[in-house]
Amino acid sequence: MRKDPLPRLDTAPEIHQKLLEFCRLKPGEIWCDPVKGHRVGCLDATDNQQINRLCEDSPAASLAIQDPPYNLVAFETRSVEEYIEWCRRWIDNSQAHLCENSSFYVWLGADQNNGFQPLPEFMLMMRQTSFASRSFITLRNQRGYGTQKNWMSVRQELLFYTLGNPFFTPQYTEIPKSLKGYYKEIDGTFRENLERGHSPNIRAGNVWFDVQQVFYRMKENVNGCYAQKPLRAIDRILQASSQPGDIVLDFFAHAGTTLLAAEMSERVCLTSDIDPVFCEITIRRLEQWRKNKLTGWQNSNPFSDDLLSSAETNSAEG
Ligand SMILES: C[S@@+](CC[C@H](N)C(=O)[O-])C[C@H]1O[C@@H](n2cnc3c(N)ncnc32)[C@H](O)[C@@H]1O
Repeated sequence: MRKDPLPRLDTAPEIHQKLLEFCRLKPGEIWCDPVKGHRVGCLDATDNQQINRLCEDSPAASLAIQDPPYNLVAFETRSVEEYIEWCRRWIDNSQAHLCENSSFYVWLGADQNNGFQPLPEFMLMMRQTSFASRSFITLRNQRGYGTQKNWMSVRQELLFYTLGNPFFTPQYTEIPKSLKGYYKEIDGTFRENLERGHSPNIRAGNVWFDVQQVFYRMKENVNGCYAQKPLRAIDRILQASSQPGDIVLDFFAHAGTTLLAAEMSERVCLTSDIDPVFCEITIRRLEQWRKNKLTGWQNSNPFSDDLLSSAETNSAEG
């Protein structure tokens, strides 16, 4: 693989503009995967007609994993009231395509320099919906920022809500249990916790400290993307809250992590992104996985061949 990483696409408008010529989807269009039935739409998550088209003729989903821009850096900051109103629209669109017994996960940030917005407002708004709160998960990053004058910021928040009574099965880390000697009487016999457990490893609770955030040294890294979630975190959600064959929604595809994790675990993903470049990255990530079992580009990028041949044509013409 060549070493030609892309810069973060949100800070490189000229490169972003150049990449648009290599994108197969225009705003409003939907790509339907001929192999497994996944769908990728270049759509606005808040537009109910567009999202209805994405989900048309599909069975209802048992799971949604949503990772919206956080109102901090990802797009021009809105007032928190406008942001919450905007969230309410894609939440309604999610609910419209979730089945009666389903799970709803949302990644959300809290701006510690601005009253922790929008996390508390988001939680309060969710109380007005039919979703029941189930867990407040924190993914603990291993690297952080702001270490000299404040506690190092290492957390990513993940809210878990449900409708009805959906499937859930506990997940285990790869960390062996070390706490022994915790006895409980079962049928008249005292048994140690290690004997009683379902696994010799510790269960994944609501603090995930065993999942590495994506950075450039990892094989799954997709250069150009600035908000990519780890495959392992998405897979943990899929395993806990869905079953093979289920439909999974993700309206903010970006690097296409939910789609790829769904492909790997035999789920079907209906996903969208408002930006044609991220839709193209999502489709190419799936295609690359199918072709050579690579999960990302690490030191290269999804458009490397296109950029090279475009540069060669330009130099031949020049
Ligand atoms: C935080 S990223 C999602 C990261 C993703 N979970 C991953 O692992 O790669 C947010 C994405 O939402 C997209 N987006 C922003 N506004 C949108 C909208 N109204 N509808 C659909 N996508 C939108 C952005 O283009 C960006 O790619």
